[in-house]
Amino acid sequence: MDNLSSKVEHCISSEIPRISTLKDLDECKHRFLGKSGLIILELKKLSALSVDEKKSFGQQINSFKDILIDAFEKQKAVIEEKEVEKKLSSELVDLTLPPRDNVAGSVHPITHVKRQVLEIFSSMGFTFRDGPEIETDYYNFTALNIPEHHPARAMHDTFYMEDENIVLRTHTSSVQIRSMENNKPPFKFISMGRTYRCDYDATHTPMFHQIEGVYIDKNINMSHLKGCLNDFLGKFFDKSDISIRMRPSYFPFTEPSAEVDISIAKSNNWLEILGCGMVHPNVLRNVGLNPEEYQGFAFGMGIERITMLKYGMKDLRPFFDGDLRWSKKFGFSAFDIPSLIKDVIG
Ligand code: PHE
Repeated sequence: MDNLSSKVEHCISSEIPRISTLKDLDECKHRFLGKSGLIILELKKLSALSVDEKKSFGQQINSFKDILIDAFEKQKAVIEEKEVEKKLSSELVDLTLPPRDNVAGSVHPITHVKRQVLEIFSSMGFTFRDGPEIETDYYNFTALNIPEHHPARAMHDTFYMEDENIVLRTHTSSVQIRSMENNKPPFKFISMGRTYRCDYDATHTPMFHQIEGVYIDKNINMSHLKGCLNDFLGKFFDKSDISIRMRPSYFPFTEPSAEVDISIAKSNNWLEILGCGMVHPNVLRNVGLNPEEYQGFAFGMGIERITMLKYGMKDLRPFFDGDLRWSKKFGFSAFDIPSLIKDVIG
């Protein structure tokens, strides 16, 4: 008992006051009050004693226990208070420091236009589909009715990988195939993303962005295509006096094919803006559809092109230079988000 008494005394007077972390305090507490701590060991010894001894020793042990519990509680409060103080002093704000510049970033015109485009097509019932930028030859060309050695392949200045079956997609039309194969019509979707061609001047960069649109169902015809593009372009350019004209053209994956020009405010200034057409029966067959049963249209448009037209930008190259002066001039406020997208991205 004397032994216990001196241990408790030592613990209370010199051990506990020196402990500075809750972990160490817990460990010390365990040594005395834990399941196989000193106090329990002493209590176990009581069974060998007489009734009277049991009573007095028992009382003594219990009072040691109370004293210890009390000392641990008090030290715990001391440690916790010190921790709070330490935290507060490390979080001190130095009010004498000069304030930081209030610089707000801006949204890149491409991102801004992608949001607008998505908003408009969503309101027309189109959903969004995505596809990989590193594509196989099959999805980028073959399935789109561009067989190997077909001259149309030369229209695209393709980046080939070491394995010539793998390319950087030259257009978003590959998403048509990926979205339609193994699925059932109706298909009504757009896709948007990066595309790559080996080309570089004031209106071409090796990486650029396209929008692809597809609508396949029973009895879809070219007037639906024209109506859809008319609606989209009118809304996008925010003008009611927009005219569009279709010129016959050629794409291996559409038949008939057309190029679309727009003219704003009846200016008679026609600007080529996109390619489109009725999806070729071979493409429909390649995704397992019967062209007698299903028809529809597809179109492809450069995002940079419509952005430059809408916002009067002359050179494409600074789009991807990452020059902050350009971003400041042409970027958009982060709060200027189309309402529908705001709901999605919060
Ligand atoms: N993929 C074509 C291009 O990149 C555009 C296009 C898409 C044309 C869909 C017709 C239909 O030039």
